[in-house]
Amino acid sequence: MIKKVIPFVHNKLKEIVTTDDYVIDGTCGNGYDTLFLARLARKVYAFDIQELAIENTKERMKRNRIHNVQFILDSHANVDKYVEENIKAAVFNLGYLPGSDKKVVTKGESTLEAVKKIQKKLVIGGLICFVVYTGKFGGEEESNDLLNYVNGLDHKSFNVIKYCYLNNEKAPYVVIMEKL
Ligand SMILES: C[S@@+](CC[C@H](N)C(=O)[O-])C[C@H]1O[C@@H](n2cnc3c(N)ncnc32)[C@H](O)[C@@H]1O
Repeated sequence: MIKKVIPFVHNKLKEIVTTDDYVIDGTCGNGYDTLFLARLARKVYAFDIQELAIENTKERMKRNRIHNVQFILDSHANVDKYVEENIKAAVFNLGYLPGSDKKVVTKGESTLEAVKKIQKKLVIGGLICFVVYTGKFGGEEESNDLLNYVNGLDHKSFNVIKYCYLNNEKAPYVVIMEKL
């Protein structure tokens, strides 16, 4: 069966992340991706600009007795202020916090700033994964920014794939960058 976008990303992460690895959730939101990563990795750096998102993620970790997450109430664009270790994987589930203000959304500029910083810290074979929603407020612009950027990456340094529904343009899609 064809996997939906988030299970597709989680499956890729499960293939490479081990308990020795440091990973980043660039947009922790309600904590589903953070929880998934925390069960695989040594440590998760979980970023979000909304207090509600950090609280929701903390609560989910507490309920699941997870203790290897550092919660960071700041933009992922400032990732270099918090992360010193090399990184095995990063996830950016873009868009707005479900059940909250739909105008607080990720933006191409800060997403790309974070990506450029994480690229430098990514180990060979490491992944940066994006779930992209074009239907949301500003989503089309962010989607274009991201695609323009990854289309220009040197294929000798990064493999980049797009996983999408060809017959549903409005459905979310996945981009994965793999460092070579
Ligand atoms: C689709 S939600 C993430 C869902 C989450 N990964 C989960 O598993 O529940 C997107 C999140 O990105 C956050 N966000 C928006 N701009 C951000 C930024 N510059 N840095 C970090 N988080 C940001 C929003 O506050 C929102 O919580």
